Amino acid sequence: MPAYRPPQIAASEITPKTIYMSRRNFIGAAAAAGIGLTFGGEALAAPLTAQPGPYKLNEKLTPKEAITTYNNFYEFGVGKEDPSQNSGAFKPTPWSVKVEGLVGKPKEFGLDEIMKMKLEERTYRMRCVEGWSMVIPWIGFPLSAILDKVDPLGSAKYVAFETVVRPEEMPGQGGLFQALPWPYVEGLRMDEARHPLTILAVGLYGETLPNQNGAPIRLVVPWKYGFKGIKSIVKIKLVEEQPQTTWKNSNAREYGFYSNVNPAVDHPRWSQATEQRIGEGGFFGTKRVDTLPFNGYADEVASLYAGMDLKANY
Ligand code: MTE
Repeated sequence: MPAYRPPQIAASEITPKTIYMSRRNFIGAAAAAGIGLTFGGEALAAPLTAQPGPYKLNEKLTPKEAITTYNNFYEFGVGKEDPSQNSGAFKPTPWSVKVEGLVGKPKEFGLDEIMKMKLEERTYRMRCVEGWSMVIPWIGFPLSAILDKVDPLGSAKYVAFETVVRPEEMPGQGGLFQALPWPYVEGLRMDEARHPLTILAVGLYGETLPNQNGAPIRLVVPWKYGFKGIKSIVKIKLVEEQPQTTWKNSNAREYGFYSNVNPAVDHPRWSQATEQRIGEGGFFGTKRVDTLPFNGYADEVASLYAGMDLKANY
């Protein structure tokens, strides 16, 4: 992951209000009809309603422009603005997610069924290993809610996740230069996967997920570094052994399986003691705030790691 560079708002983001409003009506009608849309190559978000969820945060939200233009999604390129600029041709509908492996009732969930889950607003602090952070108002549901539907077996100790492979829609997966091996894969221990903070997100800021943020469904684990939050998921598999994870596979010295936010354990290239909250003090602000153990969620999750050496299990 390249070093920190502050985001900029593209001129195209600044849309006159009249155009914005008519677009919104158009999007609303499309959402009511249950269809996904693209508009001039740009994927359009549909409004999503959700009830307030637990874990209230009294912190300033990161502006939507920053959340949607400063991304890591290497399937669309390695630059921070590549995902927002190169994901217009990606089709997040139709979609389905297979949930399989060590389960009593394996099942393929269609997107319409997924969108009928009990959706909640979950505003979380998000910390990237590169040293920046955001406060994002996600919409989603606990991962445990979907796991419950497939009857996990007692032998299932971990959950493995897989991103879609579509080189024809994801320019970073085609061509000669491959930044990572595909598919992008991630994993959680079963207790982490079942923790009530762990969600599958389908929206942010009251709308369906933009392509660059992992449409139509991605993982969010707020006490871990951002790379655990695998995007555009097509497969969830319950397994017995610790699963492969993309960043650990590509550089095990720098990236571990656990990846819990830990200000006491530095990454070989980046200090984890402090962070730059994107969008605070202006996009180019340099003010840094202290990083908290487990990203501020220690009361909820520290007990999952009781007795573990978190320096060795980074
Ligand atoms: N998922 C896939 N499939 N491909 C990726 O390159 N990048 C990860 C994670 N999920 C990535 C991914 C990293 S490094 C981060 S920091 C977060 O997505 C960024 O999520 P955001 O762009 O929504 O903030």
